[in-house]
Amino acid sequence: MYRSHNCGELRIENEGQNVTLSGWVQVSRDFGGMTFMDLRDRYGITQLVFNMESNVELCEAARKLGREDVIKVKGRVKERSNKNPNRDTGDIEIEINALTILNESKVPPFTIEDDTDGGEDLRMKYRYLDIRRNSVRDNLIFRSKLAIETRKYLDGQEFIEVETPVLIKSTPEGARDFVVPSRMNPGQFYALPQSPQTFKQILMIAGMDKYFQIVKCFRDEDLRADRQPEFTQIDCEMSFVTRDNILDTFEGLTRHLFQSLKNTTLPSFPRMSYDDALKQYGSDKPDTRFEMRFVELNDLAKGKGFGVFDNAELIVGICASKQSGQYSNKDIKKLTEWIQRPQVGAKGLVYVKFEEDGTIKSSVGKFYDDDALRTWGDKMKAKAGDMLLILSGEAEKTRKQLNELRLEMGRRMGLMDPTEFKPLWVVDFPLLEWDEDANRFHAMHHPFTAPKKEDQERMKTGDHETMKALRADAYDLVINGVEIGGGSIRIHDRALQSRNFDLLGFTKEEAEAQFGFLLGAFEYGAPPHGGIAFGFDRLCAVMNGQNSIRDFIAFPKNNQGRDVMIDSPSPISDEQMGELKLNSTHIPTT
Ligand code: AMO
Repeated sequence: MYRSHNCGELRIENEGQNVTLSGWVQVSRDFGGMTFMDLRDRYGITQLVFNMESNVELCEAARKLGREDVIKVKGRVKERSNKNPNRDTGDIEIEINALTILNESKVPPFTIEDDTDGGEDLRMKYRYLDIRRNSVRDNLIFRSKLAIETRKYLDGQEFIEVETPVLIKSTPEGARDFVVPSRMNPGQFYALPQSPQTFKQILMIAGMDKYFQIVKCFRDEDLRADRQPEFTQIDCEMSFVTRDNILDTFEGLTRHLFQSLKNTTLPSFPRMSYDDALKQYGSDKPDTRFEMRFVELNDLAKGKGFGVFDNAELIVGICASKQSGQYSNKDIKKLTEWIQRPQVGAKGLVYVKFEEDGTIKSSVGKFYDDDALRTWGDKMKAKAGDMLLILSGEAEKTRKQLNELRLEMGRRMGLMDPTEFKPLWVVDFPLLEWDEDANRFHAMHHPFTAPKKEDQERMKTGDHETMKALRADAYDLVINGVEIGGGSIRIHDRALQSRNFDLLGFTKEEAEAQFGFLLGAFEYGAPPHGGIAFGFDRLCAVMNGQNSIRDFIAFPKNNQGRDVMIDSPSPISDEQMGELKLNSTHIPTT
């Protein structure tokens, strides 16, 4: 028997019991007559005591043990004189009477502790050691529980989990595909799914009614903290539903997950149109933990002789509460430099400070007297002590820049509490985006998204400008400024889907070659349907107030898309290349 208990289990009530524990040596402290050792496993840490007086040989063997050696011990539980209130097992220790070394460990390349000295690359190379650390282990346990609660909830709503294939054909989800050569079909390739989009729609046509899958998706795109080339979705689809049925169902799922895993009752899930989100926050995924909404000042600030504003398409600002005293001229200069960095790209920044003593200071005081500035303050609901930060220029760019500034001010002002959660549905996205360079439309969500009912007729017959204005029955779930999920009501009519492919620049032949199976299926009684997919890794990170999804993935890729532990991707042998007919000499010319 390796163990009677785990290392996180024993309490004062177990005093006097003889127990067997197995685990890793976390650390040991030698006090001559006594050696204290922390024994660790997934469940916790228990203190062991080796006493020289009772067994010299045992004590000497214990002294030789190093960090991460794997041992089995037997002993008696006793009350600790020096209790550790920070540890669940902190009231007891085990007086050891037998020790077996199960396996030795080399000295680990970094310390297996919360504050480790290991850099990211080293920890990824030795990920099995990294996972032994509390934080990573806890993240993986959280992830497991989140998956289980997701299944419980969706099962309770009569969803059926169906596995869809991983070797498929390209789905145009907007990123590049990873491809896999087919040995049996030389010169041909499978694509790994960017999502199971078309399969879940086929499952609706097949009458499954409510589908879900916790599923790996693959996208060959540039990596960021919230993007991995392979990531996981909670992917769902429902038949005979309206948008609101879907939003209600997934608000329910989200509430259940926060309640069961974070013991948190989420506030309301307001709905905001895409247009309003851009106007009020300059982003389609606003962080609504704090206000600082945009206020447009065109009507008040134009025509007063300040050329920059007079020539701007948009003058728009935010009101930073109680900040006037926090920003000296030097600080304002630094903030201006911050927004002028190429990553943000604003030309300049106008400020108006409403000082506590009632005076007004502004970088544009030459052009606007106090009364004029006060009208801005009134419109932006500024109080004494507040500071307005105003940008101007071309509307779309200026909104994006002010979004960056708003988020930066939110950070600086401590308004992004990682323990507070603010969900938001962003709805009514544009259906199509015009791509000047490619001279064609792109689907804003994906090509299977339906226009809103009132836009369907216009889509069939309208001109270019009409197409630009079409709204989709598409929605995103945003929590704390992170896009957690996105979905839409789908087109279920062959003619409308064909029209969409036309608008997206597919020839009839291309549409047939790529999506003939779906168009064909639409002709056999496709029910109205729609769905959504949550980014599972992102949900894990946001629920824990963290930015990086990597910490919630057992074996993530680095920024170059590499798995540094197994050293992948890697070349394959000439023989494999030959078998796959990948050598140029082997690739058929037809
Ligand atoms: P979409 O492309 O919006 O929709 O993806 C859904 C959610 O998946 C997450 N996500 C990612 N997470 C980590 N790394 C990535 N590279 C990555 N890309 C996306 C995001 C996103 O909101 N088939 C549609 C869904 C539908 O219409 O039902 C789809 O995949 O959180």
